[in-house]
Amino acid sequence: MDIIYGGDRITYKVIGGVIDLYIFAGPSPDMVIQQYTELIGRPATMPYWSFGFHQCRYGYKNVSDLEGVVAGYANASIPLEVMWTDIDYMDGYKDFTLDPINFPADLMKKFVDQLHRNGQKYVVILDPGISVNDSYGTYNRGIQADVFIKRDGVPYLGQVWPGPVYFPDFLKPDTTTFWRDEIKQFRDILPFDGLWIDMNEISNFITSPSTPFSTLDNPPYKINNAGIQRPINNKTTPATCLHFSNITEYDVHNLYGLLEARATHEALTDVTSKRPFVLSRSTFVSSGKYTAHWTGDIASTWDDLANTIPTMLNFGLFGIPMVGADICGFSGNTTEELCRRWIQLGAFYPFARDHSEKNSIRQELYLWDSVASTARKVLGLRYRLLPLFYTLLYEAHTKGTPIARPLFFSFPEDVNTYEINFQFLIGSGVLVSPVVMSGAVSVDAYFPEGNWFSLFNYSDSISVSSGKYVTLDAPPDHINVHVKEGNILAMQGEAMTTKAARMTPFELLVVVNSNGNSSGELFLDDGEELEMGGSEGRWAFLRFHGGRQRNNTIFVASEILNGGLDLSQKWIVDKVSFIGLEKAERLKARELRITKGSMMNGKPVVKARLDSDSQFIIIEISGLSLLIGEAFNLELDLTVKNS
Ligand code: GLC
Repeated sequence: MDIIYGGDRITYKVIGGVIDLYIFAGPSPDMVIQQYTELIGRPATMPYWSFGFHQCRYGYKNVSDLEGVVAGYANASIPLEVMWTDIDYMDGYKDFTLDPINFPADLMKKFVDQLHRNGQKYVVILDPGISVNDSYGTYNRGIQADVFIKRDGVPYLGQVWPGPVYFPDFLKPDTTTFWRDEIKQFRDILPFDGLWIDMNEISNFITSPSTPFSTLDNPPYKINNAGIQRPINNKTTPATCLHFSNITEYDVHNLYGLLEARATHEALTDVTSKRPFVLSRSTFVSSGKYTAHWTGDIASTWDDLANTIPTMLNFGLFGIPMVGADICGFSGNTTEELCRRWIQLGAFYPFARDHSEKNSIRQELYLWDSVASTARKVLGLRYRLLPLFYTLLYEAHTKGTPIARPLFFSFPEDVNTYEINFQFLIGSGVLVSPVVMSGAVSVDAYFPEGNWFSLFNYSDSISVSSGKYVTLDAPPDHINVHVKEGNILAMQGEAMTTKAARMTPFELLVVVNSNGNSSGELFLDDGEELEMGGSEGRWAFLRFHGGRQRNNTIFVASEILNGGLDLSQKWIVDKVSFIGLEKAERLKARELRITKGSMMNGKPVVKARLDSDSQFIIIEISGLSLLIGEAFNLELDLTVKNS
């Protein structure tokens, strides 16, 4: 279909089918997405590790090349969670095979086992096109089970990386069994942790001739295919192809990626008994139930860097919250500056993966000193925010709300936010304002009404009494990330893997607002069991309240809304920071009381910080060891003198 948006109207020009039109009444953007995902299916669970940093490239040469990259990250002390291999690992680009020379099974198995010992993960690519080759097991089993899309009574012959290919028909129930069995067999050889499914639009290197007089291959209305009026069959499976029970490709073309994602998700669930991770290039309504998404082959250009932001935000609204773009760009050569700005932004994509094209220069983050040092800084903050990302995933999974959100989500009453598409929110109150222009060392960032605090430096704050643009410094090594008053963030420590980060104690950041009622949430489970917050699952959900009370105390308290997970002794809060207390009065900490909850041990130290150039006071209580597993209440009396 063609969709034409004209500001005050939207026109759909469709070449067939039935129009089901739903109106979601909201009224808030948040409610619209909740209603929409209630209909199409809520977003999938994702393993905790998928929020770590991923490295990929089309063109890794061999196992020692991969080992070098893993070592490169370790030596540069940049967290690397997941190593990926593109089609290079395959033998002649055939799915479920390994190149016997450069990626032989024994060395690959050793490599993946070592990743696992390091607490790291491994993901491989699969393409739908199955090489037509009768000495290839997958092909023979596919023919035997009769799983391929047909045209004129025989499997349709396309052309992709391996040369001539047939495409599995994921509409056919037997195909899911075939696909699962192939995945299982391959995983017995190579214990990968997730699957990347590509080229599933379906992408075909050839355009087959149309069937004469067919209005399917050659419909009378020419849609605006690929930006110009190319034939509908351009570089894909022809519309006259037939699927299971004679359904034409014309009718189900757009469903291919969705159905492949569903089959792959089911296969991984079955084979691993763990929460699956699938990344798909093609998506459709409902894909979020099964898969994460990346924005495909973008170029290493400043324009494409900027465009990844609205694209990411759109996919969140489509019910696919686990989304990201190739960090540093895919095609063409990146530059040190572009890659530095890109990791600053990409560190806050829900799905953060560096990926590049074969003919472009290498772009692993450790290759330039300035990129490496910025990567340590921004990924450091990302890893401290992992509990937030993960709690937002739980919210997405149960309600549909995106992880990365447009500003109008939290501030629908502020019409200025409607057109902002280069800044975004993580959850409801963390604002990311990246640099997306070459040479820029400042950004004009919009701040909705209220007090905002830099997450890199709590004494750096922005206060606006009504929403406005503020010019922020953005030196080469810096991205602006602010948290709004009223939020409580449960943060953990930096580490080289998400597993190690999860073992570190929590810091609660209480961003006090003028009404004295800040709040935040935390979801906890083991990060990979199938269900997330299910009826039988072992999980915990905590809510924090805090702020300043009338009797001149500041406090933070927790409430355990679900305590299915055994939290005893596992996690502690070792630090509570209160920020956002106005300096107009002179505040001095007097008495610290923990009236509920248990301390493991530890001697709390209370420190108040008064930066001369800030209008706010920071009060830090460190040396705590409050058990997360018990509801607690911590209060600090303040002496107040008007200055
Ligand atoms: C496609 C994918 C890209 C991948 C390449 C080779 O272009 O979008 O990410 O690297 O195929 O598999």
